[in-house]
This record gives sequence, structure tokens and C-alpha cells, in this order.
Amino acid sequence: MCVAFGLQGGGTGKTTISFNVAVKMAREGRRVFFIGMDMGRQSAVYLWDKRVADHIYKGEIATIREYFKGKARPLEIAYESNMVKNLFFVPAGHGKIEMKELRRSADMFSKLVSEYKKYGRVIVDCPGSGGLSSVLDYLMIFSSCDSFVPVVEPNEASITNAIRLANMAHLSGIPVNLVVLNKVKDGNQDMMERARKILTAEGDVILVKYSDRFVEAYERGAPLVDLYPESDEAKSIARIAEIIERRAVPMGKAGPERIRTALSIIEGQEVAEIDLSILRHVKNLFRRK
Ligand SMILES: Nc1ncnc2c1ncn2[C@@H]1O[C@H](COP(=O)(O)OP(=O)(O)OP(=O)(O)O)[C@@H](O)[C@H]1O
Ligand SMILES: [Mg+2]
Repeated sequence: MCVAFGLQGGGTGKTTISFNVAVKMAREGRRVFFIGMDMGRQSAVYLWDKRVADHIYKGEIATIREYFKGKARPLEIAYESNMVKNLFFVPAGHGKIEMKELRRSADMFSKLVSEYKKYGRVIVDCPGSGGLSSVLDYLMIFSSCDSFVPVVEPNEASITNAIRLANMAHLSGIPVNLVVLNKVKDGNQDMMERARKILTAEGDVILVKYSDRFVEAYERGAPLVDLYPESDEAKSIARIAEIIERRAVPMGKAGPERIRTALSIIEGQEVAEIDLSILRHVKNLFRRK
């Protein structure tokens, strides 16, 4: 099973939620590979093991970047820490996926994910920055995961972004059946109905309230589910993990083929919420080859 948590927008809580879900699953005895795809940011590694973060910044250990360059093998970039047993961390490294690299990287990413799936659950922490590279990163990730979980904030802009991305996931063959509405404050409850619009299949919207505990945990470099295991916040995380376990069905057809399928469906169709100009670029890329 491979689940990607994402949204094209900074700071919605993708890393916080996905990492806590990964820890929760590992604490329950499952073997989990957490893949950081937030190239250049590396925020999750601080929650996982600060020493590893230092090695990454000094360029001393191999990351997914080295893997894409053919310089490291899957198990060489999955680091283990003694902090959480059964949780392996795959750091993103620096840089971003270039247009010309998409097909090759999608191919490699797909192989990487299937390798890790043999050993356990895979959780992908997607990038949050906007722009072209981000769309490519998402297309690549969609080519390999079994489900996509948008992590949105309770505001119109975040939800509009999520609808666009969920449509892209859907066209890539991945229905969206779980949405995390994060940082919810009193009075935001009306956003629940709006957030439901993000779902492209029957599913759940799980609410995670705005809480200083997340910030505290982040600053202390520890997962909230460990610091406050009995809290409402930890219960929301547990619920997300539980739904993922219950719903995730491995998809038969993963790999770069999915990207091509998405592009061919988009062709000649009015899909208002998708940024067609960007996808046309990608389409031209495939045409040239
Ligand atoms: N439910 C919450 N309540 C309060 N603060 C939160 C909550 N979720 C996340 N945060 C805080 O918001 C900040 C951004 O979170 P995080 O890094 O997980 O976002 P992100 O979406 O991964 O960001 P990026 O787009 O930069 O990758 C962090 O300081 C984190 O502690
Ligand atoms: Mg992040």
C-alpha cells in the first residue's frame, strides 16, 4: 500500500499529518517507509531524527536524489532510527524534478515504491510549493501510489487547490476517498461540507483541530502521537491511519502508464479545475519521445 499526502500550498500540515500517521502505523507494529518528496525542504526529517537531518545538509548520506541519479539503491536510502522501531525514513534531498526527467523519474519512483511495498506500508509526504515543478512531482507521485489524501486548511483557496489536485489524481486513476481538513478552529465547521467536494469517490473528511500541541511537538522534534497519545489530536491521527488501513486496496496498474492515461483522458475534454496549460506542456513532452 502506498498513500501520498499532499496539497500544492505551503504549510497546510502535510508533513505533520503524514509523519504522525506513519509513526502511528509503526507503533502498531507495521513496517512503514516514509518517503519525503518535499525536495529541498526536509522538514519531516527533523521530526524523525535531527542527526540524520545534519548529514543530509552536509551531503553525507544518499537521498532519493542519488537514487534518481542511479547512485544509490532503494534500501541504501531508507534510514532507520532507534526512536521509532519499524519506521524507515527516505529523505528527499535537494533539487526538483525537471520536465525532461519526468518519464525516467516516474519509472524509477514506481520501482522504488514497489520495492518498499514488498516490505511494508509506504507513506509519501508531497511537496507544497506551487509552480510547474510541483505539478510534475505530483504526476510522478500519482503514477505510483494507491491513494491520495489531500491535507487542506479550512479556507476557500486551500479547498480550491485540493479540488484541482484531486481531479488530477482521479484522472491518473487514483480516486480520492479521504480528505484531511487540518487546523480547524471553532467556527470553521461549515467548511466540512465544502471539503466534501474534494472527494472524487465515496469517502470521509477527517477533521484535525488547530492545536498548539502540534507546534510544540514540531519544535521539540517529536511526533504528537508520542507526546500526547491520549489527546483528541492523536485520536484524529489514529482515525486517519485506521481509514487508510481499511480502504487502501493496492491498484493493479501503477507506473508511468498512469500519467499517459491521465493525459489522454484530459485531451479534448473540458476539465475546468485543472491547469490545462501545464498539462499540455507535459503532453508535448511525451509526444516528442
Ligand atoms: N493541526 C495543527 N494545528 C496547529 N499547527 C499545526 C497543525 N498542523 C500543522 N501545524 C503546524 O503548521 C506548520 C506547518 O506544518 P507542516 O510543515 O506539516 O506543513 P506542510 O504542509 O508540510 O508544509 P510545506 O508546504 O512547507 O511542506 C508547522 O509549524 C506545524 O507544527
Ligand atoms: Mg512539508
